[in-house]
Amino acid sequence: MNKPKVLVARSIFPETIARLEEHFEVEANQGDESWTKAQLIAKLKGKQGVFTTGSERIDAEVLDACPGLKICANMAVGYNNFDIDAMTARGVLGTNAPDVLTETTADFGFALLMATARRIAESEHFLRAGKWEKWSFDMFAGSDIHGSTLGIVGMGRIGQGIAKRGAHGFGMKVIYHNRSRLDAQLEAECKATYVGKEELLKTADHVVLVVPYTPASHHTIGAAEIALMKPTATLINIARGGIVDDAALAVALRDKRIAAAGLDVFEGEPKVNPELLKVPNVVLTPHIASATVPTRRAMADLAVDNLIGYLVHNKPVTPLNPTVLATR
Ligand code: GLV
Repeated sequence: MNKPKVLVARSIFPETIARLEEHFEVEANQGDESWTKAQLIAKLKGKQGVFTTGSERIDAEVLDACPGLKICANMAVGYNNFDIDAMTARGVLGTNAPDVLTETTADFGFALLMATARRIAESEHFLRAGKWEKWSFDMFAGSDIHGSTLGIVGMGRIGQGIAKRGAHGFGMKVIYHNRSRLDAQLEAECKATYVGKEELLKTADHVVLVVPYTPASHHTIGAAEIALMKPTATLINIARGGIVDDAALAVALRDKRIAAAGLDVFEGEPKVNPELLKVPNVVLTPHIASATVPTRRAMADLAVDNLIGYLVHNKPVTPLNPTVLATR
């Protein structure tokens, strides 16, 4: 019997390819070529599955051009690169990679918060540039983490992980805003208090964004929201580019409307708004919140489990649009 055909859209661990090859005829991209949409479509024709990393856009045009496609397995928890409605309408399953990256990403959110509030990147650049000639009392004085108020926007698994680190590890007062309120037990575990978005922005010393990107969450933080924040506050975005209006944030940082920001994700990444590159009070990292070797392996494994689960056993592990399963 012919093996199903699978495309791996980006370079990945050799072991991931080897696992896929046990079950599928695999076309890989180990040279990590950047494909245009037309090239992606050409590669996808005749394939039943695709392994994506979160940067490949799968929309109606791609799906219509590749009618044999049955599953798109994202090696990411976020899946705003998928037009999930278009996939569902065409009976194509989408899967993502939740849970396996929660703690690693929460660690990173906390690391970025600390680097930002304590001005670690800025002071390191200063030292490397040979500018450290003498100590002074206010040199790179930042703001405290311990005992301060942490405001989390988006209280899913990663938000909860950050809340626990803040409350239990650093004695922070945790407030959060979310589409829906957590149940009482989860709130108690996170020591977190539900507040409205405006109250959160006005009261928090540190605001961390962990909401999924949807048209409704576009520019959750823009000039008007920044204007509500304390001038001493920090803003951390580990969610998705587009959740923050990066142009408005660059102006606010330049004018010291808020003290500092830490950004792992950007509107239009890998391009970064050039105005952000000009301000010193921002820590910039290239979308690496889940980047530890064990976690990246676990994410790749979960995407493979989904491809095997669906194409071989008809049982995906983490389906995003399970109604597709009923219609198969
Ligand atoms: C990373 O951004 C992810 O969504 O997994």
